[in-house]
Amino acid sequence: MAIQITVDEELLRIFAYLNYRVPRTRKEIFETLIKGLQRLEYRGYDSAGIAIDEDSDKDHKNGGRICLFRNRGKVKALAEELYKQKLLDFDTEFEMHFAIAHTRWATHGVPNEMNSHPHRSDKNNEFVVVHNGIITNYKDLRTFLESKNYEFESETDTEVIPKLTKYVYDNRESEDIGFSTLVERVVQQLEGAFALVFKSSRFPGEAVATRRGSPLLIGVHSKYKLATDQIPILYRTYNNSKSGSTTKTQRIETENVKCLHPIGEEKTVEFYLASDASAIIEHTNRVIFLEDDDIAAVADGCLSIHRVERSVGDLASRAIHTLQMELHQIMKGNFSAFMQKEIFEQPESVVNTLRGRVNFETNTVVLGGLKDHLKEIKRCRRLLLIGCGTSYHAAVATRQVLEELTELPVMVELASDFLDRNTPIFRDDVCFFISQSGETADTLMALRYCKGRGALTIGVTNTVGSSISRETDCGVHINAGPEIGVASTKAYTSQFVSLIMFGLLMSEDRISMQQRRKEIITGLQSLPDLIKEVLSLDEKIQLLARELFQHKSLLVMGRGYHYATCLEGALKIKEITYMHSEGILAGELKHGPLALIDKLMPVIMVVMRDPCYTKCQNALQQVAARQGRPIILCAKNDEESMKFAYKTIEIPHSVDCLQGILSVIPLQLLSFHLAVLRGYDVDFPRNLAKSVTVE
Ligand code: M6R
Repeated sequence: MAIQITVDEELLRIFAYLNYRVPRTRKEIFETLIKGLQRLEYRGYDSAGIAIDEDSDKDHKNGGRICLFRNRGKVKALAEELYKQKLLDFDTEFEMHFAIAHTRWATHGVPNEMNSHPHRSDKNNEFVVVHNGIITNYKDLRTFLESKNYEFESETDTEVIPKLTKYVYDNRESEDIGFSTLVERVVQQLEGAFALVFKSSRFPGEAVATRRGSPLLIGVHSKYKLATDQIPILYRTYNNSKSGSTTKTQRIETENVKCLHPIGEEKTVEFYLASDASAIIEHTNRVIFLEDDDIAAVADGCLSIHRVERSVGDLASRAIHTLQMELHQIMKGNFSAFMQKEIFEQPESVVNTLRGRVNFETNTVVLGGLKDHLKEIKRCRRLLLIGCGTSYHAAVATRQVLEELTELPVMVELASDFLDRNTPIFRDDVCFFISQSGETADTLMALRYCKGRGALTIGVTNTVGSSISRETDCGVHINAGPEIGVASTKAYTSQFVSLIMFGLLMSEDRISMQQRRKEIITGLQSLPDLIKEVLSLDEKIQLLARELFQHKSLLVMGRGYHYATCLEGALKIKEITYMHSEGILAGELKHGPLALIDKLMPVIMVVMRDPCYTKCQNALQQVAARQGRPIILCAKNDEESMKFAYKTIEIPHSVDCLQGILSVIPLQLLSFHLAVLRGYDVDFPRNLAKSVTVE
C-alpha cells in the first residue's frame, strides 16, 4: 500500500519545561505547558500534544513511563480533555521532571491525533520528540527503519526521528551512551531543517535539544546566581579507525563539560525551551539562542552545549542574553485583535525605530549596527534589497529614494525568485535582507547565497537573535516591538523608516543633497503626528468596509512611490479577508488591467501630489471613462481628483518619499474591517504562518 507522507512544515511550534529540584505538581507542570503553547497560539495551529511522565518510584523523584496526549483542535480542548479523562493524578509532585509540548498546523496531511507531535519511538514511548521544520530524507530513513521492522503510525516526516533514536540506542556500541551523544548520532543522519527536543524514559529528568535552520532558544530561571553568563562549547571530534572488517568511531577528544548551573548547594533551576521567546518571557528573560548544529543537554540540572566539528569563525561560547521584551508588549490590550493593536501602535513604533538614530537638530543619522562597515558600504557598486511578502514591499517602497540618495543602482528582489535565477552577485555588492521575523527560509537562503559569493550582507529585522540578524555581517534592528498578527503592519512602516535612515546616512557628506535630506528628516519628525491623523479616519474606513465586504474582488491602483502601497494593500486584503485583490501599477492599466473595469468592480486609486500626480489623474480619467467608480486615496482638499471619485479618503501631506508610510495605513485598516465583517479570524488567517521557516 502506498503511504501518503505528510511533510510537516513550518507550522509547528515547540515548548518544553524542565524543573530540577523545584518541586512541581503534575498540575503545575501541565499548566506551564498549556500556557506555553497558548503563548504560541498566535502563530496558528490545528492540533496540539504533550508528553509528561507517569508515576514511577514511590516518592516520585524520577519520572517513569512517558504519557502522550495529543489532540486535533485547540490547546484549550487538549487541556479540557485531559482534566476530563482523569487518567493521571494531578497532585503528584515531581522534584525533577521534563515535559515537552507542541502545536502543529497541517499543510498537506490531515490534522489528527496520530499526526500530532510528540512522535514516539514505539508503543512504550521510550523516546519522544517534538519537531519544527522538515526532514527531507525521511523517505530513505523510513524505508530503512521499516526494513528493521519498525512500525510507523503517522503520515509525518518527523516520526523517523524517535524511531531512529531507538534504533541507534538499541544498537549502541557501548552500554553507557549518554543522551546527548545518542541525539548527536541521530541528527547526523538527518537532512533538512529542524529544531528538535528529545525526551526519553531511558534518561529521566534529562533534556536534549538541537537545531538546524529552525529557531530554538532556552530560557533559564533560578533563584540562585548562575555559574556563568557564557556557556563554553564542547567540541567533540571523532577518529575513524578500521579494525578488521568493521569501522569503529571513537571519541578521541573530550573536555570536562563546562555547563550552566546555579551556584549554591540547592542548585534549583528551571529550563524552558521554545521556538520563540513569547512562550517563555513570563517565566524568565534570561535566554540562550542555539546556533545550527548545537546540541544542548540538561542533565542533573546542568545545561551543556556541544558540537561535533569546529568551523572557522565559530564562537567558542553561547551568551546568556537578557531579553527586554515584556509580556504586556505581546498582549492584545483593549483591541479586538493583535493586528488592530499593531496598526494603532504605529505612531509609537515609528518613533522607536527613529529613537537615538536621527538627530533632528544636526540633521544627522547614526546607525550603530552599520558603523563599522560604513566605509565598505560606501565603496559598493550596487545595492540589493531582498525579502518576501511585506518585507519585499518595504524594499519596493524605498527603492526610488535610495537610488536618489545613494546614487547607486538599487535592485529589489523577491528572495525565492532571486534564488531561482541564481542571480549573479559580486564581492562589491551590498545586500540587504529584510525580514520581520529574521527567520524566513527563502530570505535566509538568499543571505547565505550572497555571503558565499563575498558580498557584504546587512540584516533589517525586528527580531534580536534571529538567524538573519546573527548571520549577516551587520544590520539595523527596526525596533518595532513584537508583531504578533500574521498580517504584517507596523513592521512594514518601521522597515520603511529604517531604509530611509540608511539612505540619509549614505548621503550625509553630499553637499548637493543637504536640502533634500533636511526635508526628509523634518518629514520623519512629524510622521508620528501624521500617522495619528490617518488613524483617526478609522470610523470612516469601517463604513467603507461595510459597503465593500460582500464583493469578491478589490483592485488597488497607483504608481511611483505608491506602487508599493498598492502591492502591500492588496496583500493585506487577500491575506486576511480571502477576497481577490490585486495591486496594479497604474502605468500598466492599458496593457491589460483596464479590461477588469466596469461599474461593479471596486477600485481603490492612490493619487498623491507628487511627480506622478498628472499621470495618476490620467489613469483616474480612464477608469471613470469605463464607468468605474474609484475610491480615491488622496491628499486633503484635492478637488481635482475628487471630481472623479465615488468616495474619497483624504490623508495629510508628507514628503513625497515618506507619503507611502501614510497611504498604506488606510489600507491596513480597511483590510482589518473587511476581515472582521466577513467573520474571519484576523490574527490567524487560514493556511498562513507568521514565520515561514521552509522554502
Ligand atoms: O518575517 P518576514 O518579514 O521575513 O516575513 C515575510 C513574509 O512572509 C511576510 O511579510 C508576509 O508576507 C506577511 N505575513 C504579510 O502580511
